[in-house]
Amino acid sequence: PFFVLLSQQFSREELEGLCDTATAIRRLDRHRDGREFLLAILRGHRVMNLFAQPSTRTAQSFIAAADKLGATSSLVSDMRTSSFAKGESVADSVRTLSSFFDTIVVRHPDDEFATQAAWALYRSQRSIPVISAGSGKSQHVTQALLDFYTLRYSFYEHGGVDGKQIAIVGDVARNRAARSLALILTKFRPGGVHFVSPQNFQPDDELLGYLRRHEITVEVSHSLENTLRERGRDLDAIYMTRLQKEWDGGTAGQPKADAKTSELGAGDDYVLRTEFRLLVREDCVIMHPLPRINELPDSWEEHPGFVVWRQVRNGMWMRAALFATIHGAAEEIRARAKRLDL
Ligand code: CP
Repeated sequence: PFFVLLSQQFSREELEGLCDTATAIRRLDRHRDGREFLLAILRGHRVMNLFAQPSTRTAQSFIAAADKLGATSSLVSDMRTSSFAKGESVADSVRTLSSFFDTIVVRHPDDEFATQAAWALYRSQRSIPVISAGSGKSQHVTQALLDFYTLRYSFYEHGGVDGKQIAIVGDVARNRAARSLALILTKFRPGGVHFVSPQNFQPDDELLGYLRRHEITVEVSHSLENTLRERGRDLDAIYMTRLQKEWDGGTAGQPKADAKTSELGAGDDYVLRTEFRLLVREDCVIMHPLPRINELPDSWEEHPGFVVWRQVRNGMWMRAALFATIHGAAEEIRARAKRLDL
């Protein structure tokens, strides 16, 4: 079985292979014969998308990715319509779903849900791939994969991700996309990772320790304006994130007495204000996993490095590459793209 649960599970070679497969799928999809070829890759496969938290991009791009490869998809996005609402266990639920589906994609507020699902299937007679589409506050692996793909594309002619200075801004403590991206960067040699966050939402010691053990130069600061004034022109990429108010009170929907709340957080201090454009280079890559609230104003869309909508499109290509890789079709896809000279 192929379980996609942690962004650090991928080697550098596997990450580069996924990017190459995503590019091959993107190019084949533009070619009539290529499109026909892709539609046969997962014909007859069925993908279950089980989303216990809201999603626009991730859910729909998994469905679009399956479509590109000829698979069909189901989406459960309201857990009240499933037997979870009657108290059915994770193990019984996913074992039931594995009778009808070939891959399960799960998003859940519990950090451990996807892992529990994977273990339950691993121990069962019929183990099928499980892909995390967002696990609590800890991991958003496929977002990190598409973000890495976008960074690699942006730096393709400038030495790749190695040596690049990358700022990750906002509610890092509760943003699983930021956390997963930082973990993926350990497979490369970025020049530095600069976290800029409110003090109470700064990256935890576990994440910082992991990065430092992998010899990544890490800095943590609390003022976006000061960081940009001091080193804005050294930055090769800025990854913005929003304040994750849905976690106020602890685990979404399950308040905890010691929970941090957004009221202690950011205000407008972590907004990439339009006038900050003078503090960064024109080739600095501007990213955001979306959804955004006010932290990345529309005015940045005119900046040459703004790649947010490319990130969204890359989500579909990368998720298709992941399906293809899981089901053993990646090499065939890359070979076909090469044969068609794409
Ligand atoms: N980036 C992301 O996960 O967006 P959605 O919550 O809309 O899926």
